[in-house]
Amino acid sequence: ISKLLAPHDLAGLTVLVTAGPTRESLDPVRYISNRSSGKMGYALARAAALRGARVILVSGPTALEPPPDVEFIPVETADQMFNEVTRAFGGADVIIKAAAVADYRPVTVSHQKIKKSGQEMIIELVPNPDILAELGRRKTSQQLLIGFAAETNNLEQYAREKLSRKNLDLLVANDITMPGAGFDYDTNIVRIFGPHDEVEDLPLMDKNTVAHKILDRVIELRKSRQG
Ligand code: CTP
Ligand code: CA
Repeated sequence: ISKLLAPHDLAGLTVLVTAGPTRESLDPVRYISNRSSGKMGYALARAAALRGARVILVSGPTALEPPPDVEFIPVETADQMFNEVTRAFGGADVIIKAAAVADYRPVTVSHQKIKKSGQEMIIELVPNPDILAELGRRKTSQQLLIGFAAETNNLEQYAREKLSRKNLDLLVANDITMPGAGFDYDTNIVRIFGPHDEVEDLPLMDKNTVAHKILDRVIELRKSRQG
């Protein structure tokens, strides 16, 4: 039924969505990751497909089923996500990076299980590529690039800084200290920062509804760009 009710306002467009955490292996049994459930990204992919877009979903490991009618590309590490996203990027009109990419990975991956020594252990990490920043450098004037940020403090300052530093069209930020916002919840409370210092504050809502609100902004931005 939702399929019949959804407006087909994204028909003809390709939407590339990233979702979930990345995993950075230490050894065959251990990894460094983060608390992303993938729910926000999957809701975006589902909503965009319902609205008629061709959807490519590049996802780190989650407990979720891929939504119907999306091209699903599973990845594990930030490096793999970087490769898949840059491959699909050229054909995408709208790119939404909801994934929680690990900022660092262990400098070496042990092929054998690391045994405990009982001593203090130090893990050396190296930075992962910033996928979104790279897309911001490559983006054409026809493409819309949307980032996410989960923050615990100074949300407005960090959000505006990421929007400009990564050359984004929209930045969707949420304060993960608010009950009902962020990781693992089915709901979210987001602030959508736009290119002209404007911000839209959305109340607590279902992640599917948040997804449609973000896509409404995408449609608006495309219309305003086309004059
Ligand atoms: N991102 C990315 N590649 C990375 C890190 C982040 O593509 N290596 C993207 C995320 O998918 C998200 C946005 O950048 O859309 C913001 O992620 P965030 O972690 O909030 O920003 P960082 O630049 O990593 O800054 P910090 O973690 O220090 O807040
Ligand atoms: Ca980060």
